[in-house]
Amino acid sequence: MALLSVRDLEVRFSTRKATVHAVNQIGFDLESGESLGIVGESGCGKSVSALAMLGILPKAGRVTGGSVEFGGVDLLKLPDQKLRQIRGKDIAMIFQDPMTSLNPVLTIGRQLTETLEKHLDMDKDVAKKEAAELLERVGIPRAADRLGDYPHQFSGGMRQRVMIAMAISCKPKLLIADEPTTALDVTIQAQILEVLKNLTAEEHMALILITHDLGVVAGVCERTNVMYAGKFVETAPTAKLFSKPRHPYTLGLLKSVPRLDAARKERLEPIAGLPRDLRTLPPGCSFAPRCLYATDRSRAETPELHTIDSDDHLVACWNPVPDADIPERHSLEDPGAS
Ligand SMILES: Nc1ncnc2c1ncn2[C@@H]1O[C@H](COP(=O)(O)OP(=O)(O)OP(=O)(O)O)[C@@H](O)[C@H]1O
Ligand SMILES: [Mg+2]
Repeated sequence: MALLSVRDLEVRFSTRKATVHAVNQIGFDLESGESLGIVGESGCGKSVSALAMLGILPKAGRVTGGSVEFGGVDLLKLPDQKLRQIRGKDIAMIFQDPMTSLNPVLTIGRQLTETLEKHLDMDKDVAKKEAAELLERVGIPRAADRLGDYPHQFSGGMRQRVMIAMAISCKPKLLIADEPTTALDVTIQAQILEVLKNLTAEEHMALILITHDLGVVAGVCERTNVMYAGKFVETAPTAKLFSKPRHPYTLGLLKSVPRLDAARKERLEPIAGLPRDLRTLPPGCSFAPRCLYATDRSRAETPELHTIDSDDHLVACWNPVPDADIPERHSLEDPGAS
């Protein structure tokens, strides 16, 4: 049995003017110790999917269908209090904006020990020692000396590390990290991704890494789901996604990942057109208006995920990208920004 099994998850927002189709029947399985990337442009529904899974959608949002089984229990059917227990301990989330999750008037040490005392029943001294060890694990130098510091005394990269330390303090079975490195420079980003990667290996923790940057998942996630307009449009082992992207949107994302290889300066190609307005979803493929491969069928009939090339590679497209159109440059050994 998978650790996490999401089926047909659907989320709607009711606003005064319209209904927003934020998440449209997404599904996936995740095993213990496995890492999954969810990648797509701003507004495609990544954060909302995660919040819906954990029962913490903003007020205007509601789950209108689907199931989210964690260890065989549907989280969407659990009473609030039970769900809160699971969120505190078995599933941890790193939110997109770290300052909203850190308390500015409590020291870093106190924020860490509070969780340890509450969820793991540690006494004060043990918790303090554990807090220092956690900070050290995520790469904060002289951690024991920094327990008395406040969040504003830490740099952005360090705050992000503290967030990770807090998230892993109760040894969760699943960590959901929403854009954990977006605001950081490339070197710090690489270090933090390395921390996350090591944690999945050492603790056998499952990881969902949410990002708009395909380069970020390259070195970290075994599998990646590409999201467009609230749907998964392609899912494959990450290496395959880089070597054989079959959805035109995935190809577009790849072409917009910068390379570190300075020898061949290629032009980055942004994807033309605007993301889909989620207030109206006409029939047909949501990407069709921006797609070079679109045909009349794409505009009339919605493509569903189906296997292509191999059993572990799925794409929702009537006209998958042919081999001849895949530039050679994209291999996992050279993922670009990561
Ligand atoms: N409180 C809300 N009320 C109405 N619509 C919302 C609300 N929150 C999110 N949405 C809509 O849901 C959709 C998905 O938003 P979401 O935050 O999941 O995007 P995202 O993929 O995480 O983007 P980003 O990369 O910018 O974080 C968007 O179209 C957004 O406008
Ligand atoms: Mg988001």
